[in-house]
Amino acid sequence: MKDIKIITEYWGKINPLKIEDYINVGGYTALEKFVSKMNPEKAIEEIQKSGLCGRGGAGFPMGDKLGMVAKQTGEKYFICNLEESEPGTYKDRLVVDNNPHLLLEGIIISALSIGAQKAYIYINGNYEKQKEILEIVILQAKEKKYWGENILGSKFSLEIEIFSGAGAYICGEETALINSIEGNRGEPKIRPPFPTSAGLFGCPTAVSNAETISNIPWIISNGGKKYSIIGSKNSPGTKLFLLNGAVAKPGCYEAPTGITVKKLIDDYAGGIKRGKEFWFAQIGGACGKLLLEKELKAKMEFGKECECSLGSGSILVVDKSVNIHDLLISWTDFFRRESCGKCVPCREGTFRLWEIAKRFRDGEISDRDKEAIQDILWTLDNTTFCPLGKFAGTAFRDAVGKGIVKF
Ligand SMILES: Cc1cc2nc3c(=O)[nH]c(=O)nc-3n(C[C@H](O)[C@H](O)[C@H](O)COP(=O)(O)O)c2cc1C
Ligand code: SF4
Repeated sequence: MKDIKIITEYWGKINPLKIEDYINVGGYTALEKFVSKMNPEKAIEEIQKSGLCGRGGAGFPMGDKLGMVAKQTGEKYFICNLEESEPGTYKDRLVVDNNPHLLLEGIIISALSIGAQKAYIYINGNYEKQKEILEIVILQAKEKKYWGENILGSKFSLEIEIFSGAGAYICGEETALINSIEGNRGEPKIRPPFPTSAGLFGCPTAVSNAETISNIPWIISNGGKKYSIIGSKNSPGTKLFLLNGAVAKPGCYEAPTGITVKKLIDDYAGGIKRGKEFWFAQIGGACGKLLLEKELKAKMEFGKECECSLGSGSILVVDKSVNIHDLLISWTDFFRRESCGKCVPCREGTFRLWEIAKRFRDGEISDRDKEAIQDILWTLDNTTFCPLGKFAGTAFRDAVGKGIVKF
């Protein structure tokens, strides 16, 4: 059966900078339906029915998040998270490059459904081209009255603003992102309160990933039930997967959730690159788990019961010619640099792990280092202020635990 395409259907088929092209393939009809035939409650009900869960990594149900903010009164905000600093992850950038109006339509519907007066697009500071694309399409959509005062002659109004971050990985975390828009240091805030009750400028706020949001127009047009039967039962829909490393055809592929890692590598990315021998795969970016060959039948989905949490959806296929020392240094160096420094276990732990990785490469690792590794990994896992600290040890722990690295 041909896979259904929700996000990538028109990639390469329409000019992303021409609003007419998007309209000609049914674009903005979901928004028209929302303002003329639905109300916010009905829209949220459909999104809940769809089972759509967040594509930013944590997999939180989108409909529930919107519902939590919708039931609150007063000033509210919707934020599209386009930070995307995870190594090997570039799906949200491709969404903007290939069909920015789909994302914009999703932002407008999501923001109106919670009663937000303003929507922000928080974009990675390095995504200069994508910022320009968004500026162009936002203007086009305003001329057509898809946002602004009295959208399409209705009672709904919405402001939209692009906010450019500095390209810090931690600013993808929603409370650090909020701090950044507020003009504070980009570091996480204590939770609770959660952004859904006290977010941007202390107001109820829904923060959603760009890919998550891009599913909304399809759900509003086709109904939540139709979406809920695509892919995995626990986390339905399609997902953008990024196949990187030693595969024949690296790139971004849209596939139903619940697909196995093996099928993605073999059927979508053309298998392992000729002349290379599979060693392991890393799932979900620099913070992701490592899977050995015997584990590749794991299904890619979200949720507590899932076999393999798919994180951002990136899969790095590592072959046996790769120098594991380089990889260990690259993982630990990334987290050392991206640690925001707010808490000691992460600020120090990431740095020490990186130092040990370098000594290991140089053949200078001591017994004390070997003991320290376990202490540092435990400390990162159990005592850091935010998930970045936890993420920092995941690949290292798997590399040791699965015998990929032997001291
Ligand atoms: C260190 C860290 C980095 C993150 N980076 C991103 C990011 O770049 N993009 C994103 O959408 N979510 C990121 N998240 C998750 C967000 O905090 C939040 O859960 C997400 O934006 C919610 O959107 P979703 O429900 O659509 O997934 C990150 C979380 C952590 C802890
Ligand atoms: S765990 Fe790391 S990134 Fe998170 S608050 Fe602590 S220092 Fe900052």
